[in-house]
Amino acid sequence: MYIKKLKLHDFRNYKSLNVTLTKGINIIYGENAQGKTNLLESIYVLGLTKSHRSFIDNNLINNEGEYLTIEGIVNNNKIDNKLNIYIDNKTKVLKFNNNTIKKISDYISLMNIIIFYPDDLELIKGSPQIRRKYINLELSQLYSNYFILVNEYSKILKLRNEYLKKINKRISVDKNYIEILTGYLIDKSIMIYKMREKFIKKINEYCGDIYKDIMDLEGFSIKYKPSIEFDLKDPNLKEYLKEEYNKKLDYDIKLCSTSIGPHKDDIEFYLGDKNLKFYGSQGQQRVAVLALKLAEIEIFKKYKDTTPILLLDDIFSELDDKKKNNLLKYISKNIQTIITTTDLNNLDPKLIKKSKLFNINNGNIIKIKEVKLDE
Ligand SMILES: Nc1ncnc2c1ncn2[C@@H]1O[C@H](COP(=O)(O)OP(=O)(O)O)[C@@H](O)[C@H]1O
Ligand SMILES: [Mg+2]
Repeated sequence: MYIKKLKLHDFRNYKSLNVTLTKGINIIYGENAQGKTNLLESIYVLGLTKSHRSFIDNNLINNEGEYLTIEGIVNNNKIDNKLNIYIDNKTKVLKFNNNTIKKISDYISLMNIIIFYPDDLELIKGSPQIRRKYINLELSQLYSNYFILVNEYSKILKLRNEYLKKINKRISVDKNYIEILTGYLIDKSIMIYKMREKFIKKINEYCGDIYKDIMDLEGFSIKYKPSIEFDLKDPNLKEYLKEEYNKKLDYDIKLCSTSIGPHKDDIEFYLGDKNLKFYGSQGQQRVAVLALKLAEIEIFKKYKDTTPILLLDDIFSELDDKKKNNLLKYISKNIQTIITTTDLNNLDPKLIKKSKLFNINNGNIIKIKEVKLDE
């Protein structure tokens, strides 16, 4: 799939913008703080309804504006669709072909996006929460029912934690109720575990080879690390998990929170038996993230019959020439790619030649000029 047209109103430093993108490679260059990342962010928000770098939607609205809109024409398998987002300080409205979409789960899988950016390393170095959030987002892009599942899980988890608190404070002592909630929680947990495990398995079908291609090192893999051990094929899995929750109940009451479950899951990145979080060089870690995301492109192709839109935010200055070229081999394969850079010298002239080129400058007074068109 690819985004043909992008229209912005009061998004970040864009008062208004109207741009036509090519379905191949688009390069956006400009000095710092001109709006390159903002542009990629607007595409990300259009597809995924939230920013990858700000939790607060309000920050996305231009300082002088009251509301923002993002509109995109997205072509998927030869069909044009219009996606729209409206955000003000109270509401967010999502539209698909002019029809309001009430459920985010119905919207989020319509436009698929994979983004690479310098802070990506956090995916390895940062807290497990960052990795869980990532897995949730990717699975939601692949399967809209996953998004619903995780939301249902979170609601039950919240109820359970609130009730643990009531028991802790002796406001209520009905342990039966906790048992019922735990049962619900386990049903959802098993479904989440299964989808996550399958996803990691699929990633592993590709990421080892990709890593080797770019880094020339064998043995890269990603491991799924749930907070407790279990066997998804065990016919008594539910009973087994109930016992585990029971064992932890007193502890959970003390903490007023649930200590095991998908909300405590993690993934780890390995080269052979070395955990890259602790033993990887910066370069190895960076390529690990690239391999993960490039593997996802293959999954989108195979299971969704489409290619996602690739956003590469200023990542070329971080890679040496060899890795850059290896990466380019992957991205120039019929995938719409939008690249930002402060310096065109970071990019291969051959790449520039076949790309559509834009220059962004000066915050609000937006001028994007097409320097070269070569499609
Ligand atoms: N809500 C906003 N309203 C107006 N300007 C904003 C808003 N949020 C960020 N900016 C401005 O956007 C600029 C940064 O844009 P960015 O896309 O990150 O730059 P770069 O081109 O370096 O990637 C800064 O000048 C910042 O002040
Ligand atoms: Mg930037």
